[in-house]
Amino acid sequence: MNKHVLSPSILSADFARLGEEIATVEAAGADWIHIDVMDGHFVPNITMGPFIVATCRRITRLPLDVHLMIETPERYIEAFAKAGASRLTVHVETCPDIVGTLRQIKSLGCRAGAVLNPETPVGAIQLALREADLILVMSVHPGYSGQSFMPETIAKVSEIRKKLDALRSSAWLEVDGGIDLETLPKMKEAGATAFVAATAVFKNPEGPAAGVRSLRALLD
Ligand code: DX5
Ligand code: ZN
Repeated sequence: MNKHVLSPSILSADFARLGEEIATVEAAGADWIHIDVMDGHFVPNITMGPFIVATCRRITRLPLDVHLMIETPERYIEAFAKAGASRLTVHVETCPDIVGTLRQIKSLGCRAGAVLNPETPVGAIQLALREADLILVMSVHPGYSGQSFMPETIAKVSEIRKKLDALRSSAWLEVDGGIDLETLPKMKEAGATAFVAATAVFKNPEGPAAGVRSLRALLD
């Protein structure tokens, strides 16, 4: 596994050609496939469920990095695990017992991640730091791809990097939202190790393979 990973989000893929789009980014060097699950309650948009995860599981060997933007995620964790998710990431804002939910995810054989929104203070994931295999920092308000990067989230990544290092944690520190050729190096510098990108990959004017290669070149 690479030390820094790129996780293209299929939210901006052409769903009429999903298999082809995933094969293209896989061949170009994508490390994981990011799947954005939205329920129309926790975020305004509605996207994909376990069925799409199962479809992706059939068409790629890459780990499936599933981001749950849903209320009461514990009700659906088993379905996503059965569908073939490799990692399941839940929002701290939706989990009154974040440690219990992370343990539930692990008990089903998946890697467990905790994510916080731009306005959520770092203290909210304090308990999750020891338990999580991944901490995800949102660098936009979740709900849609194609939004502008929020620079104030860079400091949050640095702060969490310090906390993970102090715990000697090997958890991934992932960033999601507005990640492109300009913002990725700033987040890498702050200590991020996993990078989600939808627009910069699938809406790249030269195509998704070029999108993956240009971002991955900044990680090697
Ligand atoms: C936002 C999603 C992101 C989104 C990123 O709610 O969690 O994963 O797809 O899109 P870009 O890379 O276009 O900001
Ligand atoms: Zn996401």
